[in-house]
Amino acid sequence: MHPSILPLRAGLALLRVGQSGLPGRAGAALSRAASLRLQRAERPAEAAIDALRTRLRQSADTVEVVDYGAGTRGDKPPVRKVADIYRRAATGAAWGRFLFGLARELRPARVLELGTNLGVGAAHLAAALALNEADGGPETRLVTLEGAPALAALAAGHLARLGHGVSDDPECRVRVVVGPFAETLPGVAEAEGPFDLVFVDGHHEAGAALRYLDVLRPHLADGALIVLDDVEPGRPVREAFEQLRAEAPSAYAGKYGLLVHTAAPGPDSRREGAPAPAARESVPPPTSAGDA
Ligand SMILES: C[S@@+](CC[C@H](N)C(=O)[O-])C[C@H]1O[C@@H](n2cnc3c(N)ncnc32)[C@H](O)[C@@H]1O
Repeated sequence: MHPSILPLRAGLALLRVGQSGLPGRAGAALSRAASLRLQRAERPAEAAIDALRTRLRQSADTVEVVDYGAGTRGDKPPVRKVADIYRRAATGAAWGRFLFGLARELRPARVLELGTNLGVGAAHLAAALALNEADGGPETRLVTLEGAPALAALAAGHLARLGHGVSDDPECRVRVVVGPFAETLPGVAEAEGPFDLVFVDGHHEAGAALRYLDVLRPHLADGALIVLDDVEPGRPVREAFEQLRAEAPSAYAGKYGLLVHTAAPGPDSRREGAPAPAARESVPPPTSAGDA
């Protein structure tokens, strides 16, 4: 077991996050994800991702990165070490396992990720989708958006090496779309929605998160689960999450804020001035080493 799994498991158990009151399948998905447990058939896929993590951690390669300046810390050069990007920005092992569990239980047909980076979070999501299909579930699709072309190319390679077909071909499970979210998201949402699961893990600013969700709202399936990264106290996305909680059932799961989209919102559900619906607030657990 990856060493970061244990502290996260302890933190999530303390939170009793699985009993957060999220409705329907989202609640069941959160319970499954919070357990961080794997079934026997799931272990090979997660072991392959662990091997990818080891390669990235030890990589001596560099990559040119277009910096969108959002949620970054300090000045960073345009050419960076892959190992540094992995350490600073990629989803850590424990949180990757959490995403995997969410997607396994929720069984989404359409998944969207904002912020591909090196493809690590996408690898966990794609692994879950592949297993869901192998279990007899419907055809699935993961679309992941990345602004830095060289990162997108690296990620596509990582995902292909893990056995996920990556291209524009509808037969392929994964599609990596290159460009600023503001430019790519509207077309992707129109063409690829409605989404059942959305992972917002890029451009970590409150206004940006709210804008992206406004674009996405008409393209969300009823009961869709939205996972916002970086909602710890004091982080910019926390403010967006606090506003969004006024219009949707929600739960905190450590650094992730979860929201359930319902297709027919009631009259009180407008963002401004609306009272927050009943949703249990949790104190975030300590994040594990290596999580970004
Ligand atoms: C935290 S990393 C994503 C990590 C990844 N989701 C994972 O699970 O490993 C955020 C990524 O979003 C990209 N990004 C940030 N702002 C963006 C924007 N406005 N448009 C496109 N990509 C953006 C960055 O280049 C970076 O690779």
